[in-house]
Amino acid sequence: MASTKERIVVVSNREPYSVKLTLDGVAVQKNAGGLVSALEPMVKQSNGLWVCWEGEAGSKSQLSSVINGLSQSEAESCFPFAVLPVALTDDEINHYYNGYANRVLWPLFHYLVSYCVFWDEKAWPSYYSANEKFAEKVIAHSQSNDLIWVHDYHLMLVPSMIRGEKHHARIGWFCHIPFPNYEIYRHLPNRVELIRGVLGSDLVGFHVPSYVNHFLECVERCLLEEVVVDRNTSTISYEGRTIKVIACPISIDADQFNALSLGEDVYEDSLALKKAFNVEFMGLGVDRLDYTKGIVERFKAIELFFDKYPQYKTKMTFVQIGSPTRTDVPMYKKLKDEVDLTLGSINSRLAEGSWMPIQYFYRKFTHEQLMPYFAASDFCLITPLRDGMNLVAKEYCLTCKDDLGVLILSEMTGASEEMTEAVMVNPYDLESMADAIHQAITMPASEQRQRMGALRERIEGFTVFDWVDQFIKEFHDHERLNREAVLS
Ligand code: G6P
Repeated sequence: MASTKERIVVVSNREPYSVKLTLDGVAVQKNAGGLVSALEPMVKQSNGLWVCWEGEAGSKSQLSSVINGLSQSEAESCFPFAVLPVALTDDEINHYYNGYANRVLWPLFHYLVSYCVFWDEKAWPSYYSANEKFAEKVIAHSQSNDLIWVHDYHLMLVPSMIRGEKHHARIGWFCHIPFPNYEIYRHLPNRVELIRGVLGSDLVGFHVPSYVNHFLECVERCLLEEVVVDRNTSTISYEGRTIKVIACPISIDADQFNALSLGEDVYEDSLALKKAFNVEFMGLGVDRLDYTKGIVERFKAIELFFDKYPQYKTKMTFVQIGSPTRTDVPMYKKLKDEVDLTLGSINSRLAEGSWMPIQYFYRKFTHEQLMPYFAASDFCLITPLRDGMNLVAKEYCLTCKDDLGVLILSEMTGASEEMTEAVMVNPYDLESMADAIHQAITMPASEQRQRMGALRERIEGFTVFDWVDQFIKEFHDHERLNREAVLS
């Protein structure tokens, strides 16, 4: 836990809450994803701050426009702690968020180099100036003992920008996506500046040990004799400071999902779903509609499954929930078309009567709405081409009924380094995915329970709250070791 004297200052691109002006006042809604729920108690209890982008310009839920319309006391009572929105220009949104973050760093860190757009000359300057705005906000509002926790690939320059102004600031950075190996990372024209940016931190966190190793390798190869990397202690000596690098796997709020899965109508609704689809077996995929998630490959594997095991036609259906995301980025529009086309061609070739091999929903589902789908599924296909962690895998394990259900998991996810009882697949190997589906729906109940029980136990044993506590504890331990080293 945070020590009583320190405030936690979270810095993230996404805002923690959506706000809307209604006739009854301001409606505040926590944004999806476990990060906000996990950090909220700690930021609140420490009287801390959250610095974030103000959100889409012109949108009714844009933080600044709603907050600016309120008196100071109304604004303060809206959120459990102070939320400080950073205003970005349209140009910055286009070239920093849609541009450098989502058309360079996102595809590259997911090993999809050919998806990167390196030719946008405004991308890097916008990324730089947007990072500067976040850093300035933190510099203006933070105090010397604050623990400043910066999140994700959008804000890799922020740690060094803060350190430039406040030499003794206490800064951590956590990467929520994969960190690639040097052979991939070296493609980045700004590879050195980004590494220097992150090394403004005292503690750097990744989900799994392989990302830690990749980062250490990139630091060594980019900064050569300017750094000393100690692989045994996972520390970096740079500019007279020691930076610690750790693996700390994010998770979910286990109690919340256990409770949601026991919701009043979940079981009834799950039976109704299977009845509506009129099938014996149901598979499920839940993703943002992102090209890293391997949805087209997954659909093709399902097609292959029905060609290879035709006895399951009309008996099994696969439900894909794809939520719209980053719709202003051209690659995402292209993916939507490709998913629609692939789906249409598979369904039109294989459909029989009212039965469809794949049912597809292109919209957002709340956790409550997802519950009956999780409960009705005999297996969940989580097959990203690359994924930092993948929390849907963990959510599924806590919500499938009586530990019956099979998790089929891509070996390219961070989750696969922990969730070893899943059925592992290579998402590029369609035949192995088709066979994994067959293995899942013919798996004896005893084996399902054994695998799922072990997965559930591990998830319950290290929740998203443990993730927060571990990061903070590692931060304090590292500071203590540094102090002792100075004294000795
Ligand atoms: C990933 C990133 C997050 C990001 C989320 C949604 O999980 O690690 O930082 O917030 O995707 O993407 P968006 O672009 O909508 O924020």
